[in-house]
This record gives sequence, structure tokens and C-alpha cells, in this order.
Amino acid sequence: MRGIILAGGTGSRLHPATLAINKQLLPIYDKPMIYYPMAVLMMAGITEILIISSPEYIDNYRRLFEDGSEIGIEISYAVQPAPEGLAQAFLIGADFLGDQPAALILGDNIFHGSGFIELLASARRRKSGATVFAYQVRDPSAYGVVELDAAGMAVSIEEKPREPKSDLAVTGLYFYDNRVVELARRVTPSARGELEITDLNRMYMELGELHVEQMGRGYAWLDTGTHESLIEAGEFVRVVQNRTGMQIASLEEIAFQQGFINVAQLRKRGELFAKTEYGRSLLALADKHSGLKR
Ligand code: G1P
Repeated sequence: MRGIILAGGTGSRLHPATLAINKQLLPIYDKPMIYYPMAVLMMAGITEILIISSPEYIDNYRRLFEDGSEIGIEISYAVQPAPEGLAQAFLIGADFLGDQPAALILGDNIFHGSGFIELLASARRRKSGATVFAYQVRDPSAYGVVELDAAGMAVSIEEKPREPKSDLAVTGLYFYDNRVVELARRVTPSARGELEITDLNRMYMELGELHVEQMGRGYAWLDTGTHESLIEAGEFVRVVQNRTGMQIASLEEIAFQQGFINVAQLRKRGELFAKTEYGRSLLALADKHSGLKR
């Protein structure tokens, strides 16, 4: 399975903060926003990842991650010339995906919760169809909305409906079998001129192959679309990290736990960031695994 992070868009709801920088590079407390979705793909065990962004910002991501080898993965880059919709990621990423199944995550989606690794593993194990994750929100009209029948099967899926049929938002994390490229080619632009991911998901629903996993109370799915929600997400990360002493979306920690990097590589990264809590937590982890006490 290969992973795609889509980090495009104009960020117009965050102007003027995003006039000269891509939204997904803004910090969520102590790390760039894109670290959080990157962490999710790595927790799913995915090591080949394509970052798609707009032509003016793609080089910032290259500077941030280079080829990914420092964190034990392979990262490639592609541009989306204009913000023409999320489903376009599969047209841009067709060669990258080859004959592999795909996971797509939006560069502004932040997830946190216990049992997440198992949830990701079960979606990854599914051989056929698509898997989306539904999350109960107070105002679903800002999102894709899925309606389920008593058996938990999707009966409708709509993009930003004025009158939502349920309170279940579709989060920005999607798993697809390899038919996704072919199906994405059949999506036509919506009224707002975009290739909607919701239309792609509806195709899977009509094939009877849209699996919906519900993320219950134990999960946080945070929005970063407005100034208000951006600072709330940062505050959430700060509070949890300060309380527990554990990092959210520490890429090196995940890489080490997944076996993508060894303890020497972990220590090297910790030294690079030694002036921060992020770096110190990597050094502490390296010490623990070398039998040292810090
Ligand atoms: C996109 C999708 C929407 C989904 C949301 C999740 O919306 O179109 O279906 O619920 O991401 O973050 P956007 O917020 O990019 O307009």
C-alpha cells in the first residue's frame, strides 16, 4: 500500500495567515501541521508516501522532509497546479500508485486516540473496496456526511449538505483498493468546480463496497480550517503532551517503533532537535533502548 498526503488548497479561510505560506506548514503547537497526517500514514505502516501540494509551496515540503530517509521512509513529491479537488490526487498520483492500493490523508487532518493503530491495521487489511472513517460532530454541514442503516452500511453520502441526514462527518482519511485510479477518472467536476472525494466514495457505495468505520468517543478528530479551530487544535496538542510527557505525531518515535529507523538514527534526530521537548523526548527514548538513564 502507498500513501498520499494532499496539502494543497488556497487556505483562504485563514487569510492573512496563509497569504505567504501553505496552510499545512503552519504550526500546530510545536510542529508543522503536515506532521500529524504523516504520523497517521506511518502508524499504518506505510513507507512510500507522495506529498502533493501547489507549485509555489512544494519545495517547502521538500526542504522539510527531503527524501524521507532520515525518518526511514521514501517520500516523493508532485504538484497540483490548481485546487481542483481531492479526487484529483489519484490522477496526479496514478504513476506513483502503480498497481498498489492507496491511503489518502488530507494534510490538515489531525487524529488522536487510543486503538488508532489497530483501526488503521484493520482498514489496511481489507483487500477490496474503500474504507472511510465517520466522526460525530455538532455541525456536519461543513463536511462530507454519511448516513448509515441499522447494519452500519452507508445509504447516502453527501458533500457539505445544507440539511445533513446524519451527524456523522466523513474525516479526511481514506483507504482504497487499486480501482480508485480508474474510478477517479470518471468523477466529473461539481458545482464548485472540484473533483469531489465524496463523489468517488459514492461510486464505491453504489458498488456496495464502501466500508464505514466509526470513530467513537475515544478519538479526537480536530479541524484546522479557521483561526479559532487552528488554535484549539494547538491547545489540544499542548495540553495532552504537557500532561502525559508523550508527544503526539513524533515522526521519529513512530519510525523507531515501526522499525523504520534504528536507535542510532533516532539519537541523531534527537540531537538535531535537542533544544526542544520534541528532541529531548527522542533522546530519552534512544537512551531507554540503549539501557541508559537520562
Ligand atoms: C474535505 C472533503 C470533505 C471532508 C473534509 C474532511 O472538505 O471534501 O468531504 O469531510 O475534507 O476534512 P474540505 O474541508 O477540504 O472542503
